[in-house]
This record gives sequence, C-alpha cells and structure tokens, in this order.
Amino acid sequence: RIAGPSSLVIFGVTGDLARKKLIPAVYDLANRGLLPPSFSLVGFGRRPWSDEEFAAQVKESVQAHARTDFDEGVWKQLAEGIRFVEGGFDSDEAFGNLKATLEDLDERRGTRGNHAFYLSVPPKSFEQVCQQLSEHGLAKTSEGKWRRVVIEKPFGHDLASARELNNVVESVFPADSVFRIDHYLGKETVQNILALRFANQLFEPIWNANYVDHVQITMAEDIGIGGRAGYYDGVGAARDVIQNHLLQLLALTAMEEPISFNAEHLRAEKEKVLAAVRLPEDLSRSSARGQYTGGWQGGEKVTGFLEEEGFNPDSKTETFAAVRLDINTRRWAGVPFYLRAGKRLGRRVTEIAVVFKRSPNLLFREHNGDDFGQNAVVIRVQPDEGATIRFGSKVPGTQMEVRDVSMDFGYGHSFTESSPEAYERLILDVLLGEPPLFPRHEEVELSWKIVDPFEEYWASLDSQPEPYAPGSWGPDSANELLAQDGRTWRRP
Ligand code: BG6
Repeated sequence: RIAGPSSLVIFGVTGDLARKKLIPAVYDLANRGLLPPSFSLVGFGRRPWSDEEFAAQVKESVQAHARTDFDEGVWKQLAEGIRFVEGGFDSDEAFGNLKATLEDLDERRGTRGNHAFYLSVPPKSFEQVCQQLSEHGLAKTSEGKWRRVVIEKPFGHDLASARELNNVVESVFPADSVFRIDHYLGKETVQNILALRFANQLFEPIWNANYVDHVQITMAEDIGIGGRAGYYDGVGAARDVIQNHLLQLLALTAMEEPISFNAEHLRAEKEKVLAAVRLPEDLSRSSARGQYTGGWQGGEKVTGFLEEEGFNPDSKTETFAAVRLDINTRRWAGVPFYLRAGKRLGRRVTEIAVVFKRSPNLLFREHNGDDFGQNAVVIRVQPDEGATIRFGSKVPGTQMEVRDVSMDFGYGHSFTESSPEAYERLILDVLLGEPPLFPRHEEVELSWKIVDPFEEYWASLDSQPEPYAPGSWGPDSANELLAQDGRTWRRP
C-alpha cells in the first residue's frame, strides 16, 4: 500500500539514527514508489541550515546509506518537499515556524494536514517537544487530518520512569496516535515467526510443553560499545535489548494465535504472554552478566569495555546479560526460556532456537549413546535470515549410526524479492496508520516488570560484572546458568 498525502517531521535530525537509518529509509520508500508525490520531509534542529543546506545533508545520507540505487528523478521529487526549521526545543518561535512550514506544505504540496512527528531525541526531551507541539496546535487530529508521534527506545529506564514517559506522551497524543518503535518488529524474519507458526500445520501441534524442552533466544553482536558511552553507561545489555527486542521475540514465539493480524488482537496476545512470565525465585541462579575485556577479536586488537572512551573505569554496566524466564501458561509450564544478549561475542547473530525433548524411546542408543536426536527449530533472525530444522539421520554405511543433520530454509535461496530495511516498513506503517508492529504502553510496562527485578538484584550486588574475552560467548556464569539445568547453549 502507498502512503497517503503526509509529511514526516524529524526531531534530532543530525543524530546517527536519522542520518544512517531514518533518512535513507524515507528515500528507499520513495524509490520503491510507496510515498505519494506530496510527501514532505521536515528537519528540526539547532543548526543554522537553509532548506537547501539540509537537503544537501539528506542527499549525503541517502547516497551513503540507502539500500536502493540513487535515482535523480526520485530525488528531485523528494527534494522539493524538504524543509528545515531551525531552533531549540525551548523556542516558541521555532515551533511557530514549524507550524507555518507545515501549513505551507499543506497548501503547496498537498500534505493535507497529515503530519507525523518522529522524536529521535533523548527521552528527557520528549515532554518538552510534546508540550510545544500541543501548545502550537500541532498535536491534535481533526476533521480527517491526522497527527502521529513516533518515539524510539529507551522507553524509560525502569517501570516507574516508563510510566511517567507514557503519561507525558499520552497526555498530548491519544494512545492510538503514539507509535513506539522497536525496530526488531520491522525485521522480515521477526514477522516470519508468526507466518511459520500460524500459516502452517507442521509446527503448532508440537509447539508446547509436551514436546519442547526449552527455548534459547540469542542476540549476539561482534561490535563493542565504543562511541556510545553517553547512551550505554548505566543502561547495559538488559535494558538496551532484553527489555525490548528479546522480550518481543519471546512474546512472538510463545503467544497464542491471535484471531487476526489486527493490532488489537496481536497486541492482546503478546501482552497476555508477557503478563504470564514468571521470574525465578532465586535470581542469583537464574541470571548472568559480564563485561568484555580488551584483547584480540578476528585478528584485530580491541579495547576492553572499561577502557572505552567516555566510560567510567569502574562502570558496573553489563555488556552481556543472560536470564532464565518461565511462562505460567498451560502451553509452556516447565519450559525454560533462556535469553542472552551481548557485545563483542563470537559473531553477529540473532536467533531463536526451540529445542525439543528427546524421543521417549531412543531406539538407536546402543550404537550412538545419547548424543543425537534432540530436534530443534531454529529461526535465524540475522544475518543469515531463514530457518533450520535439526533432526537425527542415519549415517551412510553398514552400521546403524545416527547423527544430527540440518534442513535449511534461507530467504536468499527461496525468494528473489529483497527485504525492506526494518525502518522502511515501520515508517511506512506510521504514515499508513497501521499499528500492529508497535507496542502499546501496556507491553512496555509489562516488559519492565520482567527486567526490573534482575536490575535491582544486580545493583544490590554492587560488584563488577564478570569479565569475558572478546570473541568468546560471554562469561562462564552464562554457561553455568544452563549447566545447572543440564543444558548447554547452542553455538550459532
Ligand atoms: C539497538 C541497540 O536497539 O539495537 C544497540 O540499542 C544494538 O545496542 C542494535 O547494537 C542492534 O540492532 P541490529 O538491527 O543491528 O540487530
């Protein structure tokens, strides 16, 4: 579907996210023919830029980061609707100018009063920007004209601050005009979890505690945190990605079938399963955290977390976190969900592995021992998008030897269509007003209820997270977390 007449206003337009993701995504949407001719892009910031100077910056981001090829015709059409409004968030004059700019675009380009405001700014500025938009009459949807606000994580630092933020934003914009971006939900493979589960008959009958032994959700990154001290110190892996991306993956993997892909239905099922998550009684045995040290990774010398520029050298922020969660539902009783996320790990990979119980009667044990036949369905979110099924198979030869093999589905092999970048899909959904992939405030708050107790427990230890070597798979305590349950992490 093509977006209707509208404009996108970006606050924080000189930030990394805007330059590397948002602006290129807008161009890619235009290039794919998914934006209307009237579409306009407005930057708001302190730089003393003219519209032309901002357009030159936009062009630079597009040429450096867009996925699709640069097309002069598409660019010309887009560039005609590019505007820049100079000012700080405290400037009434600047918001007055923004209003005038948008009215002018309504008239000249035909954006028809439909405006989305993307707050790519630190959460501490949300209140001020929302208030200004409200005071200048920019927040109110009226007579077929819509106004929407888009906010980026972090949605708070804990439950209390998330509630406060939600109240601030929803005091200005009605709940159905607030779009909270979790970019994992815009990924092709993440949406494919729903297709795999609910468009097939093969998986769902065994997707439960009768057959599943446990689930492992891994988000491993090989990069460090250099350059992001301002954001990451005091945040750490659990708040940065477990509270949002990993719990969203858990929700999609574990939820019941929604009656439709409609936002209400989908969100209701995700919320139900997040509300059913039970925390272990003994948090010390059910969590692990670590900090990467300096050393060698892939033939390159890398800096340890505590020596990264801008970090406090005694920082207790974790760069790796693993937790065990249980889900109190009939479907999942007794099936642990292990979640881990970390920086500077062996390789970049995000995957969900649903690991099945062994066959109740292992017929070929006498030849093979116990070391086979633990089936798994692995959904590979990235980088090598697809899914794998692992099962035991006879090794060719005269012996009845059985070994585990993999059957693979790869997006690249099965489809010729290319996937849009997550932000493309999400920005288009904002302009279309399609909310299924955006969590409501209830979901955000439920996720904090899961993460807060771990954070409080770690803070109470007042100790440094356990060091781990770059290029490894995290601290030893992460392995112990599974070993005490008689399990091991998969090596993706
Ligand atoms: C962001 C986190 O949400 O996701 C980053 O703040 C992380 O720390 C990033 O690096 C990873 O995103 P992706 O799409 O590369 O997996």
